Amino acid sequence: MVCLGNICRSPLADGLLRKKVKDLNLDVYVDSAGTANYHVGEAPDHRMCQTAKKFGYSIDELRGRQFVVSDFDTFDLIYAMDKSNLSNILKLARNQEDVQKVALILNESHPEKNLEVPDPYYGGEKEFIEVYNLLNEATDVITASIKHIKK
Ligand code: 4NP
Repeated sequence: MVCLGNICRSPLADGLLRKKVKDLNLDVYVDSAGTANYHVGEAPDHRMCQTAKKFGYSIDELRGRQFVVSDFDTFDLIYAMDKSNLSNILKLARNQEDVQKVALILNESHPEKNLEVPDPYYGGEKEFIEVYNLLNEATDVITASIKHIKK
């Protein structure tokens, strides 16, 4: 799960999918990163931690890190929150195999629409809840598509 800062959108996407795969006992490794390095080592934004908590998820323990080229080797699927993140990830792709791993996350729930998860950083509670709703829906679809990967 990749956004710009790795403190708002991608930690929530990470926390949602992590819990969903854990609850189903799936053999799936989930992590998140930012394309920028502004918030490396930081906890997620407290407003996103509160939003997660409100819906029964905890992302307090996550820490920001920057996307690295070796993430193309570590992960089978790389989800970008918006088109700018997508473009920044694709700039680091080394070959077609890397490129094929990357997708806009909302294309899971809204196929081929190329919708973006809006950055809530300068928004209020309404914007944070909107991000939760979009990512909850998308991670439900992702979970359904990987539910055969049992431990
Ligand atoms: P995120 O939100 O990409 O969803 O983590 C942002 C967080 C911080 C900044 C930008 C976006 N920032 O410019 O510091």
